Amino acid sequence: MGWKVASLLVIVMLAVALYVNYDCSRQQLATLQSQLQAKESENLLLKGDVNSLEMRNAMLEQQNAVLEEQLAYARASYVELAEQNKKTVAENLQLKTENALLQSKYSRKKEKKYELIYKGKEREKNIFVNVPAIPLQEIKTFRKNVELINAQWANMLIYGDNLSVLKTLMTNTDVKGKIRLIYIDPPFSTNHEFRYGDSRVSTISYSLKDEVAYEDLITGQEYLEFLRKRLILARELLADDGSIYLHIDWRKGHYLKVLMDEIFGEEHFINDIARVKCNPKNFPRRAYGNIKDMILFYSKTDKYIWNESLEPYTEEEIRRLFPKIDKNGRRYTTNPLHAPGETKNGSTGQPWRGLLPPKGRHWRYPPDVLEELDRNGLIEWSSTGNPRKKIYADDYIKKMKKRQDIWWDFKDPLYPKYPTEKNLEMLKMIIKTSSNNNDIVLDFFSGSGTTLLAAEHLGRRWIGIDISIAAIEVSLKRILQLPHYRPFVLYNAVGKPLPEALQKLVKRQNS
Ligand SMILES: C[S@@+](CC[C@H](N)C(=O)[O-])C[C@H]1O[C@@H](n2cnc3c(N)ncnc32)[C@H](O)[C@@H]1O
Repeated sequence: MGWKVASLLVIVMLAVALYVNYDCSRQQLATLQSQLQAKESENLLLKGDVNSLEMRNAMLEQQNAVLEEQLAYARASYVELAEQNKKTVAENLQLKTENALLQSKYSRKKEKKYELIYKGKEREKNIFVNVPAIPLQEIKTFRKNVELINAQWANMLIYGDNLSVLKTLMTNTDVKGKIRLIYIDPPFSTNHEFRYGDSRVSTISYSLKDEVAYEDLITGQEYLEFLRKRLILARELLADDGSIYLHIDWRKGHYLKVLMDEIFGEEHFINDIARVKCNPKNFPRRAYGNIKDMILFYSKTDKYIWNESLEPYTEEEIRRLFPKIDKNGRRYTTNPLHAPGETKNGSTGQPWRGLLPPKGRHWRYPPDVLEELDRNGLIEWSSTGNPRKKIYADDYIKKMKKRQDIWWDFKDPLYPKYPTEKNLEMLKMIIKTSSNNNDIVLDFFSGSGTTLLAAEHLGRRWIGIDISIAAIEVSLKRILQLPHYRPFVLYNAVGKPLPEALQKLVKRQNS
């Protein structure tokens, strides 16, 4: 029984132990299960994390792709920019060089802020290079036996195109930079032929039978360039204290003003003179009658020869300024005897003959001078006893007046020896004003030689150039007719023999 109980007990105990074990295992299983569950939910969470990481990763990859694309683009742009930069640096260098060139040009010509632009306007530099010089062939020296003006000098009359002749003169050290005065009266671009011959009666009346003295057929921009080139060369011949007068008219004068500003500098422009060329005429043009032309006057530098030019009062001015006539027929006017400003202590503030000067004024003269003026009949007393000083026209006009920029008294000659011949007295006046004795005067469109004659008359040296054989012939005749003239040389600069008529004229003259 004992073993049975014991067995049973063992069995019970085993059962209990088994049960306890089972329970334990169940609990363990539950724990494991809950652990598993926890792991699973953890796993789920991790999966979510992985998902979001994967999404982020995808996003980042996308961003990366974009960035790489941008980088590639930036790389390409960099190459392009580097290329551009290279170009810019080169351009910059080029601009700097141009700028330096411009600056040096600008510093040479500070004044050139604007200019006239036209087709075919050559660069100054090229003009000096391209214009050919021409040899001056000596034809004859007139008055050879008379002592030369100075050891090196004889006046020059040159037959030829002034462009090449001016270039040649630039190589003559007696001429370059030594010309004190240039006067030119070029063709005015009229598109006319100017004739001369025995039938002429005035500047504008010529028969078609007459010979052509010169043609004035260059027009438009060609005309401007024709003159500009010559003016540029002429500037080199002008002395630093020299000046130039360009006679021109309404057709091209305003363009030439601008060109002259360019060539000689606007700051060296002195006058635009209106020269009255003729009396009023009944011109057929539908326009106001044209009785004036213009003379543009420039200096080479600020220091230029200037001998003040005075001119007499005109009859009309005398009548206007001196309206009264005294009992002897003398013209006079009267001025107040007092002047502005009070003098408290001096004698001119005191009463004279019981009269005080008006308030705020004083007598122009002390009492003793007033007495003397009255004794000499130089005071006019009004009916109310007011004294005024008499000024007589004949005393006053002796003083002459400063010449103004309208020239009334140098009209074209009525009986010219050459078409468009200018007034000899006008040339004398210009030469007196802008040169001194023995200075060199140049006229490179010298025509009938009016400038040369005036210069000869005033003891100046001269150079005349003309391309017209008629002009040379008339000039020669005019100079050779002078009772006295100094030695001069006739040159041929056309590169072919002188025409026969001129050769004969030259031969006839004793040298
Ligand atoms: C208006 S006239 C000069 C008149 C002159 N002032 C006078 O009192 O007789 C112009 C002159 O320029 C001359 N001429 C025109 N072109 C020339 C040139 N290229 N070279 C030299 N003279 C020229 C003409 O032959 C003409 O005699």
